[in-house]
Amino acid sequence: MLTLIKNIKELVQVEYQPKLRVCGKEMAQMQTVKDAYLIVENDRIAAFGFMKDLPEQRFDQEIDASGRMVFPTFCDSHTHMVYAGSREIEYIDKIRGLSYDEIAKRGGGILNSAKRVQEASEEQLFEDALARLQMMTAFGTGAVEIKSGYGMTTEAELKMLRVIRRLKEVSPLTIKSTLLGAHGIPMEYRGCQEKFVDLVIDEMIPRAADEGLADYIDVFCDEGFFTVEDTERMLEAGAKYGMRPKIHANEMACSGGIQVAVKYNALSCDHLEYTGDAEIACLLGSETMPTVLPGAAFFLNMQHAPVRKMMDAGLPVAMASDYNPGSSPSGNMQLILSFACVNYRMLPEEAINATTINSGYAMGVSDRLGSIAVGKLANFFITKPIATYEYMPYAYGENKVETVFLNGKRV
Ligand code: NIG
Ligand code: FE
Repeated sequence: MLTLIKNIKELVQVEYQPKLRVCGKEMAQMQTVKDAYLIVENDRIAAFGFMKDLPEQRFDQEIDASGRMVFPTFCDSHTHMVYAGSREIEYIDKIRGLSYDEIAKRGGGILNSAKRVQEASEEQLFEDALARLQMMTAFGTGAVEIKSGYGMTTEAELKMLRVIRRLKEVSPLTIKSTLLGAHGIPMEYRGCQEKFVDLVIDEMIPRAADEGLADYIDVFCDEGFFTVEDTERMLEAGAKYGMRPKIHANEMACSGGIQVAVKYNALSCDHLEYTGDAEIACLLGSETMPTVLPGAAFFLNMQHAPVRKMMDAGLPVAMASDYNPGSSPSGNMQLILSFACVNYRMLPEEAINATTINSGYAMGVSDRLGSIAVGKLANFFITKPIATYEYMPYAYGENKVETVFLNGKRV
């Protein structure tokens, strides 16, 4: 099957020599081709270039993209989008002034979602998540990392991971699964949380590994949640089963989460509102992708991670939605682009790199996704008619995506 997309006003985020990630000043660079064509063979990108150089060839399908742009689909490298119910009542508590921490201490927050996930059937969780995935796709996302973490018991964690496995089977999106056994501390383990860590190590990790349910392992390593020592124990247990870490770090304090992520060669460390010079120095030269979650910082009205300082120091930065019912109830990556530009003062090129190639790296798929490059998976979207690519972050709130292709097929 050979598909031609022709008369593309601008083909955005092309790579001639694909990289796995872009760092520092390179983040402000992004290549495009104006008046372009794109050829897709089966599920792959076969060729692209200027319309004037379009080879004489027969195609099975031709799409005229006049006035429209083509982007690689977003990679959303951090989500908790398998959940039950919603938490707008806490949202009101937050408006009234309670902090995230205070809500968590009262047994709200993550524990509130855990109760609902424990009660929900696997079927219901699956159907709700599938509908969310379809909404995310309509906004231009083509790859999603999904965490467990609202289980709190071994059975409920495995139930969440099985839902993610079913989503992998039926959805055209590229999906990675992460075991986040240590997301919150159940009430009965308050004061003896090392016993809960034992449960994660002795039951959750081996059973998830037995069933092949987790690509990665995550821990909420932060003040008021799991300590560096807890985290080290769980990462060592995960490593025995080949689970590479992706860590929730430094959202509440300079808690050592970034250092422990780098020490265990995590694929990413995420949130990073509390990132100082020592943390930046630690990340430099590592293979760990610093990942910022602008939706959570917006929704919780938190201080912003020092993204400009990180890029000036030469670090790469990725951005993801953190789609979850408590701190970021949206999986719209176009909004993340707008937050990147307005709240973090990123240039549109930097924001696009953060949400495509670098977030692809943060979920281990940038060798096949995250840019328009020959041989990569044909995951891209055609925009509505727009004048410039800068319009994408600028026109926040409206959906600029018209048509989405995943694995070479229109969805
Ligand atoms: O990434 N920070 C920890 N976990 C989630 C929040 C989950 C929740 O509140 O339900 C996050 O923001
Ligand atoms: Fe998260």
